[in-house]
Amino acid sequence: MSERNRRDFLLTLGTGAGIAALAGQAVASLRSLVPNVSYDAPTTVKLGAAHEFPDGLKFLPDERLFVFREGNTFHAVSAVCTHLGCTVRAEALPRPETATVEGQSLRLTHRFLCPCHGSRYAGDGTNVAGPAPKPLAWYRLSVAPDDGQLVVDLAAPVEHDFRLTIA
Ligand code: FES
Repeated sequence: MSERNRRDFLLTLGTGAGIAALAGQAVASLRSLVPNVSYDAPTTVKLGAAHEFPDGLKFLPDERLFVFREGNTFHAVSAVCTHLGCTVRAEALPRPETATVEGQSLRLTHRFLCPCHGSRYAGDGTNVAGPAPKPLAWYRLSVAPDDGQLVVDLAAPVEHDFRLTIA
């Protein structure tokens, strides 16, 4: 191989190696944009045994959820304000009221207030004042088949006539 051919060969080899390295780097960069695992929080959460819930209301700060119990009947109302997502607080009514919600009678014991911009919600979650654009969400409750705990599905909003009754 002449000196010139040898130089051309080495130049071609070097260029090819550079292109291969750049292509590998580009593939690695694109691959890094696609995560291998999902970091989404699970939407189904066990809340504890039904008998551990008091009659009335229990606030679950981790789930930002109010669970209401009346005897063996349960329902869950989100504590996430529909304006900008602050956590609303429950305020006990001076006297429980009965309201018809989606055609079903519901005993209201609390109303909800948002500390951020003053939105107010009735006991069934209906927005009644302030900038909140819609009612608080209600979520589906069920009973875990393995250990009987109450389970909420935070990805399954339900109509406000939803009740879980445990035999
Ligand atoms: S976040 Fe609740 S009123 Fe604005």
